[in-house]
Amino acid sequence: TGHITIDAGYKNTGATKSAITFLDGENGILNYRGYSIEDLAEKATFLEVAYLLIFGELPTEKEYADFEYEIRTHTLVNEDMRKIFEGFPVNAHPMGVLSSLVSAMSAFYPDHQDAEDLTSLHIIRLLAKLPTIATWSFKKSQGHPVNYPQNDLDYCSNFLNMMFALPVASYEVDPVVAKALNKLLILHADHEQNCSTSTVRLVGSSQANIYSSISAGISALWGPLHGGANQEVIEMLEAIKNDGGDIQKYIDMAKDKTSGFRLFGFGHRVYKNFDPRARIIKKAADDVLNKLGIKDPVLEIAQKLEKAALEDEYFVKRKLYPNVDFYSGIIYRALGIPTNMFTVMFAIGRLPGWIAQWKEMRTNKEPIGRPRQVYTGPVKRDFVAMSER
Ligand code: CMC
Repeated sequence: TGHITIDAGYKNTGATKSAITFLDGENGILNYRGYSIEDLAEKATFLEVAYLLIFGELPTEKEYADFEYEIRTHTLVNEDMRKIFEGFPVNAHPMGVLSSLVSAMSAFYPDHQDAEDLTSLHIIRLLAKLPTIATWSFKKSQGHPVNYPQNDLDYCSNFLNMMFALPVASYEVDPVVAKALNKLLILHADHEQNCSTSTVRLVGSSQANIYSSISAGISALWGPLHGGANQEVIEMLEAIKNDGGDIQKYIDMAKDKTSGFRLFGFGHRVYKNFDPRARIIKKAADDVLNKLGIKDPVLEIAQKLEKAALEDEYFVKRKLYPNVDFYSGIIYRALGIPTNMFTVMFAIGRLPGWIAQWKEMRTNKEPIGRPRQVYTGPVKRDFVAMSER
């Protein structure tokens, strides 16, 4: 079998070639298909970026109109999926619900196996239905009826409407809020071979269907070291606030390896000078709070914590900077999205990236992913009868 090199956490091992996302961790550069994240976040819509990631080019006006139309007309979710949903307890974590229901989609659309065309309806269905499903958990947690999608609304406004409209009052989506959401989703749309994306590719490499592959990605994203960090950040900032705002105490705890505590929203496997997404989000958080006239004490704590950490030798030496998750939660809060849905928002944003990577992997006919290992247990032992153990 030859010599096997272990690279725990794949810190230096490339798993694939990819033409989707360019990431330069030293210089803090992130480009989707060659277009800078700064430009896209400012000038594009989320669905435009989704199209770019999945199909490789920015859409023409006609291509965009067709793509958007397809998505708008597939936002409704099978009523039988609702029955599955209704069986979940009221306090079920929305990420558990989301991965389960996306997995269930593989049973509702069994034609996925003979889909020759990898750009098919399955991609449209996923993009169209994920926001609808995501809002169900929130509605249930409030004891409110779910809202059906409204296809005259754009992607972000439709999501906000399903989240916040009530049958007893009129509701208009605030364009400031829709624009902020659009930006956040774009910033999350792809990030090359991160844990969830690698999971999607690995599951898909066995030729498992796209729904099951994406469901696995959602599960991977849930962990606190990955997408789950955005929920942890806000919970940490709130804890600091309730603890009298003692920032130094939390910094010291994060530095103490025996505490088991990390500063959530800090550090990144690849970015070692700054996370370009964090820069954009930090500014967006300021803008959104200003425009909406919100004063969030948690933002102040975040700013103080960032400053204190960046002046601390421990963080400087290890090149630990705020990552995308550090400020995103502050915007989500301002938009009225509950903390336990932050990671769901990340999933909605990352979906086009997962799809693009799944499609690239299948189109390139990559072999099944099957890492090796170095065995460390006993090699050969004689069986001992139970009576003699
Ligand atoms: N707080 C305190 N110490 C840290 C932190 C942190 N947030 N992050 C890394 N370190 C220390 C770590 O203990 C280690 O120290 P030492 O060299 O003395 O052993 C050193 O920095 C290097 O860390 P690592 O764990 O070897 O680095 P990694 O590349 O394996 O981990 C990471 C990257 C993002 C998982 C990690 O920085 C972390 O756990 N951060 C907090 C969770 C978080 O914010 N995750 C979101 C990541 S960004 C977007 C996403 O994926 O969702």
